[in-house]
Amino acid sequence: MYLCSKLSILMKDYPQFISSESIRLPNEGKITCTSPSNIALVKYWGKRPVQLPENASISFTLDACKTITSVSYKKRDVVSEDFDFDLLFEGKPKPDFKPKIQRFFERIEKYLPFLKQYTFTIETSNTFPHSSGIASSASGMSALALCLMQLEKKMHSDLTDEDLLQKASFLARLGSGSACRSIEGPITVWGSHQEINNSNDAFAIKFPYKIHQNFERYCDTILLIDKGEKQVSSTVGHDLMHGHPFAKRRFEQAAENLTKLKGILSSGDLHGFIKIVESEALTLHAMMMTSLPYFILMKPNTLSVINKVWEYRKQTGSSLCFTLDAGANVHLLYPDSEKEQILDFITSELVAYCQNGQYICDKIGLGAKML
Ligand code: PMV
Repeated sequence: MYLCSKLSILMKDYPQFISSESIRLPNEGKITCTSPSNIALVKYWGKRPVQLPENASISFTLDACKTITSVSYKKRDVVSEDFDFDLLFEGKPKPDFKPKIQRFFERIEKYLPFLKQYTFTIETSNTFPHSSGIASSASGMSALALCLMQLEKKMHSDLTDEDLLQKASFLARLGSGSACRSIEGPITVWGSHQEINNSNDAFAIKFPYKIHQNFERYCDTILLIDKGEKQVSSTVGHDLMHGHPFAKRRFEQAAENLTKLKGILSSGDLHGFIKIVESEALTLHAMMMTSLPYFILMKPNTLSVINKVWEYRKQTGSSLCFTLDAGANVHLLYPDSEKEQILDFITSELVAYCQNGQYICDKIGLGAKML
């Protein structure tokens, strides 16, 4: 059997994901995969080594905001101690991305023993504008992880689709935590949670319960408030949760919110959804503001938009709500049935707060795929 018992998930080194060395190494070829970004409803903020979350999180997988990655592979004549790869971003060499990929390869080598046997050329591009403030690590790392798993499939033809996706999520997590939630869709859960069957810290799973039709075609319009480089990376932000005065309570609160959201996603309670999602967004930023050192990633226009959303909801009874990532941009979430009115509201009232008037219309999607 390709993978050992699922019970070994509980073991530290995840031996079920260590594949045996293959005798059938393909000589050369090219694999292309695409993977979307995702937006967390209950946020992951705080981790322990290696890339394990302090609390379970849940997200909508997106559709339009995605990375397209091709991995060209060629068997090396002489295998050396180093990884051998080149990286092209939008067709041009991108040396500043290389250390991140190097670290990723070091972390996953144990699980993909063929890595040093090949010379790789990784070509990657995003559908969303560069430096838009939209994190490309989730879509980028999950697209690369899926490419590598498709290569592994060529060596181990007994690998089932389910096991392939599971391991792709496991590997993506080692590149960037939230990336593990992008492999599948429309809603995924990452992190062990008492009331979600099969949830675990090692990889994300599809939300395993009925999803009410109210949430089936949810939209996410991303207002690009500030496209500048973040002053504080999420790696640093996660680290600041160690010794944070509110960390323990925050992790408990995230678990409680996920329990509530589980019921809400099944019952279709849009008011309940808004309350949890907006509170989670503001709590994430409250954790940043109460870290030591403290920091603020929201901008004045982020707050203006939030106030406008609250005003609009009060006036119209709409189900429009907002959430935030680790940045100033605002994600507006709403059911497809309200799309027309809400897009009118965005163009007439909110575009003024976007940098260069830019926003991206996205919706719930189904995850990564091979092209
Ligand atoms: O995956 P990372 O390490 O970039 O952390 C992402 C954290 C948030 O986007 C702020 C929340 C989340 O759960 O996606």
